[in-house]
Amino acid sequence: MSKTSTTATMEKALARAREHRDADLKDLIEELRIPSVSALTVHRPDCARNAEWLRARFERAGFTAKVVDQVKGGNPVVVAEWNGAPGKPHLTIYGHYDVQPPDPLELWKSPAFEPEVRNDNLYARGASDNKGDHMTTIKAVEHLAAVGDLPCNIRFLIEGEEESEGHALPDYLHQHAKELGTDGVLIFDGGFDELGRPVLATALRGILYVELHAKGAAIDLHSGSYGGNAPNPINTLARIIAALKGPDGRITIPGFYDDVKPATEREMAEWRHEDARFKQEALKLSGAKALEGEADYLGLERKGSRPTLDVNGILGGFVGEGSKTVIPAVAFAKVSMRLVPDQDWEKILTSLERYVQTLTSPGVEISVVKLGGAPPILSGVDHRGARALMAGYEEAFGKKTALAREGGSIPVGVDFQEAIGAPLIISGIGQADAGAHSPNEHLLISQYHTGIEALIRFICHFAESDGA
Ligand code: BES
Ligand code: MN
Repeated sequence: MSKTSTTATMEKALARAREHRDADLKDLIEELRIPSVSALTVHRPDCARNAEWLRARFERAGFTAKVVDQVKGGNPVVVAEWNGAPGKPHLTIYGHYDVQPPDPLELWKSPAFEPEVRNDNLYARGASDNKGDHMTTIKAVEHLAAVGDLPCNIRFLIEGEEESEGHALPDYLHQHAKELGTDGVLIFDGGFDELGRPVLATALRGILYVELHAKGAAIDLHSGSYGGNAPNPINTLARIIAALKGPDGRITIPGFYDDVKPATEREMAEWRHEDARFKQEALKLSGAKALEGEADYLGLERKGSRPTLDVNGILGGFVGEGSKTVIPAVAFAKVSMRLVPDQDWEKILTSLERYVQTLTSPGVEISVVKLGGAPPILSGVDHRGARALMAGYEEAFGKKTALAREGGSIPVGVDFQEAIGAPLIISGIGQADAGAHSPNEHLLISQYHTGIEALIRFICHFAESDGA
């Protein structure tokens, strides 16, 4: 396809997108009805159904598509290819169809898997993370395919284990690395920033996720008869957790900060300039009374270039109505650490395992169970994919793209870098207050429709870019 015909295709696809807004929203709603929660095994069949739903969509758009059961007992990967533009660049698009658990259910105004439109927003689990994002990419491709041939070659890789750190897609990438050559990987699983700007991520944090299990007596004990003599795993676990991070926000695990690389002077200069506004927005969006974190660091450093440690959940003992006088036998907590370049989760896990043994009490056995680990990544933005996306955003939204370190993690990012090697383009469409992982997750509907237009433009610019 020549440059002029790509431009003509783009205009036709944009017009088609504007005519099909209702249908595009309906399709997203249809996918959002599938409760594809990867963390919960009861939802395995829903994940499989979601994969199949995507495969059928890709086939209808003229792609060769398959559902790959890469790992036994895991969730399938959807692989879809269209290679009808020989000589043109090749784009890979990544997304995930799995979602986070919807609880606490009682806090949802409308049920998590019964999507509802209220005040220009679509409410449902996955509305932004990641069904809104990947449907934006799929819709852009569908519109382009409907008005003519696609202007470049495209492969979709949509996994179902992003939110639970499965191995299916990482394994697939390493196993098929040779066949997966591409000129750019659009990782569309991010979002706009607190100041309402599109973002191209220059980094993602890594993660180490563990459970701490505390075991005291063999059975729950009467807290009168045994109180004063029995070990209490909740008390001990609470003390351990408290010791892991000081009130100054510093994490105390030995060696934790050894490999942390400071941000560049250029990033720091920009962050200093934007930090007051960022903190103001973050405070507003969080609804908290005050922000907390390491005092000597900017809010933007704390979000993107400093590591963290947070308890995600804690369980133990009696929590029903009224009082029950008991010393529980066990307690546990889920703890995650966000990691930054060049921290190594395996090294930190070893140090943590040793450290908690020094913190426990004589009667309480502590064990550390690793749930997942993923390294932090850095992503360059001086390549044609990045330039094409920034142009698409500017034309569709009338906004300049912010280059930013994202605080979240996308575990498979490193596998794309290692196995495929093509530049990553990390971005997404959800507004900053989308409430990803929270109750009442929602997507501003205009973000979806304008996002589809931005991606139609991105794909066309990418198709006409050269490899420099
Ligand atoms: N979309 C997020 C990652 C993200 C968050 C990117 C914020 C940019 C900004 C992704 O779906 C996610 O939530 N990942 C998990 C991974 C974890 C379960 C290993 C995360 O970061 O908690
Ligand atoms: Mn997520």
